[in-house]
Amino acid sequence: MIITIDGPAAAGKGTLAATLAEKYHLAYFDTGMVYRAVGLEMRQKGLDRQDEAQAEAIARNLTFPKMIELSKDPEFRSSEGGVAASIVSAHPKVRAALLKMQQDFALNPVFADGTPANGAIYDGRDTGTVVCPAADVKFFITASTEVRAKRRYDELKAKGSDISFEKVLEDMKSRDARDAERSAAPMKPAEDAVIFDTSALNIQEVVAKTEEIIGNKLKKQL
Ligand code: DC
Repeated sequence: MIITIDGPAAAGKGTLAATLAEKYHLAYFDTGMVYRAVGLEMRQKGLDRQDEAQAEAIARNLTFPKMIELSKDPEFRSSEGGVAASIVSAHPKVRAALLKMQQDFALNPVFADGTPANGAIYDGRDTGTVVCPAADVKFFITASTEVRAKRRYDELKAKGSDISFEKVLEDMKSRDARDAERSAAPMKPAEDAVIFDTSALNIQEVVAKTEEIIGNKLKKQL
């Protein structure tokens, strides 16, 4: 079974994906990691993230082990890391170079220790539209910009960051605009995605509703 969860930053995709992955024994791919890895490696090499050709060269050489290594850097999950990822992800050649790596994961989904899974759960911006257009179940999770900025701010504070709420909100707004307006695979719900707004629903309610939808799908597949 392949499940996709798309939507803007801090909408609750990661929590939902981790919960569903555990319940259905699915391997989890957080696809934002591929763009964060390219953004960070460019910074480490002193390259300009606006340079599409250089970003494409970095993307072509990205592997899973390299991505995991880069993810250990504190900047990887930082607000700046998110902005950098969003900049490199707007380059069509970068997206094309990273597509196969993301799609191949669904062919042989395994957990981090190499044991096989029942399928894969993806989270990102275009996983239901571009990466896995034939996924069994697709969700699109959203929430108001202020609610998402507050969640991200609390998360960063808990990790010891001294960033201000205003800066987090500003980064969130510019990232949303870039992700939704870029020409290559702009963030939007797949036509067959089920949409949830988590500013109105709490995560337990969303989990319960998604489990009902997945349960119905599984019954049909039997
Ligand atoms: O989910 P995240 O915050 O880690 O994503 C970082 C950036 O990567 C996001 O602003 C846009 C980009 N991204 C994308 O373009 N497509 C995806 N499937 C996942 C992330």
